[in-house]
Amino acid sequence: MSIVAILGAQWGDEGKGKIVDRLASELSSGGLCVRFFGGSNAGHTIWVDGEKFVTHLLPSGIMHRHVLNLVGPAVACDLEVICDELKIAERFGSEVAIDRSAPVVLPLHMLLDGLREDRAGAKKIGTTRRGIGPLYGAFFARNAVRMGDLTNADKVRASLLERGYYEEMAALIQLYGAHAPTCDETVEWCMQFAPKVRPHLADTRRIVCAAIENDRDVLFEGAQGVLLDVFHGSQPDTTSSLCTLAGVNASFGVYQFDRVIGVAKAYATRVGSGPFPSELTDETGDRLRELGHEFGTTTGRPRRCGWLDLPLLAYACRMGGITELAITKADVLSGFETIRVASRYVFEGGVMHDDTFTSRVLRESSIGYRTLSGWKEDSLQGIKTPGAFPTEFHQFLDVIRQGLTRSSDNRIVPITMIGTGPDREDLVVL
Ligand code: IMP
Ligand code: MG
Repeated sequence: MSIVAILGAQWGDEGKGKIVDRLASELSSGGLCVRFFGGSNAGHTIWVDGEKFVTHLLPSGIMHRHVLNLVGPAVACDLEVICDELKIAERFGSEVAIDRSAPVVLPLHMLLDGLREDRAGAKKIGTTRRGIGPLYGAFFARNAVRMGDLTNADKVRASLLERGYYEEMAALIQLYGAHAPTCDETVEWCMQFAPKVRPHLADTRRIVCAAIENDRDVLFEGAQGVLLDVFHGSQPDTTSSLCTLAGVNASFGVYQFDRVIGVAKAYATRVGSGPFPSELTDETGDRLRELGHEFGTTTGRPRRCGWLDLPLLAYACRMGGITELAITKADVLSGFETIRVASRYVFEGGVMHDDTFTSRVLRESSIGYRTLSGWKEDSLQGIKTPGAFPTEFHQFLDVIRQGLTRSSDNRIVPITMIGTGPDREDLVVL
């Protein structure tokens, strides 16, 4: 039995879905794949036998018949998306259970998210407009329609009317010059999804607890990445949820793990606003975007591209609780004459070591790079064993390892997997 968590170690879109998909395939029968935070702002692309599947909310384990897929109590439940993705689960014959306590994202949240963005002008966060900020704002203020309310329209209405929840949102929407759906319309909107969702409602904390007691495998699937975490990311340019291991602790009361795998691309991308010190706004950035197909799965926006940033990656490992790394999309760097890696931050005259990478640090530091020779091979795709990687690629991995060695205790975060292409099979275990 093993308890494993998978987290994004950058700004999301690291290719977590593929790693989860691989590990899900290795789960023992009845093993769990668990989504623990975030909502339909996430987007996972998984290729199965040349067919593309995109998911936003249900765990990536839904493509495996033997896996029980859970949506935890802190997940922002977008009902339309859940109903769409239940069809994928049905197709693969996998089971899905959704927590009764999980908060429902309402059209009011999405409307408010968009209005806040539109009003913010140059200060906009560049959110996915999926209602995430308003939903979690309300959730932490202890207001929510819960998935369990969908058993009965009166429960939905009661949750909306408690402590002015609906009233306050509607008032804000009107203040911002838009028309808010009425309370009745909101109840009706929720209830249209109820028949589809109801058979899946469960107590997922209990299921996780029982699975651990019975020595079953549990795989926790993170969304976004540590650098977008509401506590440790560059606020306000973050998401509104927990993207570290704390997200699992908080949702399920699980504190012990056999593996905590961080996923990072061999380069870096970011969608939306916020500082991105190693960003490339030149042809090299365009080339990364094109070769890596770096366009948002959820919004279609072109992703900002840049070099891998080791000090930030080390920070993400430290704050995230990450104990090993998977490096994905290494094939995208094939054919580059030289490859650069951000290796040093100098802030207010001092070299950053175990310091916190706040928004100000990211904006005001001067960055040092290491320049490495690229590998001449056209592609790493098809390579099955570490020994078959080109020498230059091994040098690239060594530089990453050096960058991840913690100065305080010399602790190393080992690299355990390399993604070499989009397909399920394109993964080398080190
Ligand atoms: P929100 O989560 O929609 O509020 O967006 C806040 C910030 O997080 C924006 O910069 C988004 O682009 C970013 N973001 C949210 N989810 C993802 C994701 O799954 N991948 C990459 N960026 C994301
Ligand atoms: Mg994504």
